[in-house]
Amino acid sequence: MIKVAVPTTGNEEFKALKKIIFSGKFVSGDNVKKFEKEYAKFIGTKYAVAVNSGTASLHASLASLDLKKNDEVIVPSISFVSSATAILHQGCIPIFCDVDIENYCMCPESLEKNITKKTKAIIPVHFAGSACNMKAILKIAKKYNLKIIEDCAQAHGTKYNGKIVGSFGNISCFSFYATKHMTTGEGGILCTNSKKIKDFCLSFRNHGLKDRDTHIQLGYNYRMSELNAAIGRIQLKKLNKINNQRIKNSLYIINKLKKIEHKKKWFKVQKPINNIYHTYFWCPVRILSNKISINDVKNKLKKKGIEIRSRYKYPLYGQKVFQMINSNGPQNYVKLNLKNSEKLSGKIFGLPNHYKLKKKELDYIIVTMENLFEK
Ligand SMILES: Cc1ncc(COP(=O)(O)O)c(C=O)c1O
Repeated sequence: MIKVAVPTTGNEEFKALKKIIFSGKFVSGDNVKKFEKEYAKFIGTKYAVAVNSGTASLHASLASLDLKKNDEVIVPSISFVSSATAILHQGCIPIFCDVDIENYCMCPESLEKNITKKTKAIIPVHFAGSACNMKAILKIAKKYNLKIIEDCAQAHGTKYNGKIVGSFGNISCFSFYATKHMTTGEGGILCTNSKKIKDFCLSFRNHGLKDRDTHIQLGYNYRMSELNAAIGRIQLKKLNKINNQRIKNSLYIINKLKKIEHKKKWFKVQKPINNIYHTYFWCPVRILSNKISINDVKNKLKKKGIEIRSRYKYPLYGQKVFQMINSNGPQNYVKLNLKNSEKLSGKIFGLPNHYKLKKKELDYIIVTMENLFEK
């Protein structure tokens, strides 16, 4: 089976973990501090605060902006669920906007249409290693005085106009979940240039503590452990090399598929916006045909020994978690029908593109795709 992803961890991570296990120092040690410094340097922000998931980084970010109950936050409807549930965690209202049909990222026109007097922040999601149109999004945010939290959970190292994603917004959030570009097992981090936000988040992730005995605000246990941070430090060093191979593999497949998509007609590869350095968390392909389902593709490719990933089956507003709590809110999720999100949900999949794939396997993926629905 050609797997869609393989582990990027090995001996180096093992050695680092062994050291910590023998030291017995699992929390609030040097590794977390050093990882934060190194990650902030990578993104080019003054500060980074490590937490124990990407979702925690989103929640902490929203809390740090002092958002109040019923403030509205705009998020694209094609994303992982916690891009939007984090808004609920903070007592705010997610307002869903549509995505670009070719790039699958936040659509600036749809974003602007959904702004009201209650909109306080927006969460552009750099989907599957691609990047949002940050020029247009920054312009809109400035015009309406909105805060930006970039969701970079799927885009470690992606660039827009030569600038790394995660350095555009007031805050940026990353996930280090096991399958991401780089992992800490579970984990996340937020990056910012604001000392106020950094200080707030340091306390928020640690039960609202100011010092050992003083709780100055509501907080959570969102701390990253030394074990996770130690893995992260090694993974960060490996990231560029692994990304480069992943990009090479993805472009090899995509450029070949691009040449045949007009003949095959049932699929189309993602077409990112100009001037981005795409890090291909996925090697994304869209099913165009109404007669072919994601399961058809998954099953046929599985029979040929190729695994794929497919997300997201529904636009976020179609998920019960939103429909049941707020069908009478400012945006009626039950009735909502965003054209591109409806077209894309359940129709996007990622082909294997991991760094260990050989040319022979890449060629096999391409030929199999070419003949997949031929009699
Ligand atoms: C776009 C996006 N946002 C947020 C998250 C949440 O990250 P985590 O799973 O680390 O909480 C993910 C992870 O899957 C994601 O893909």
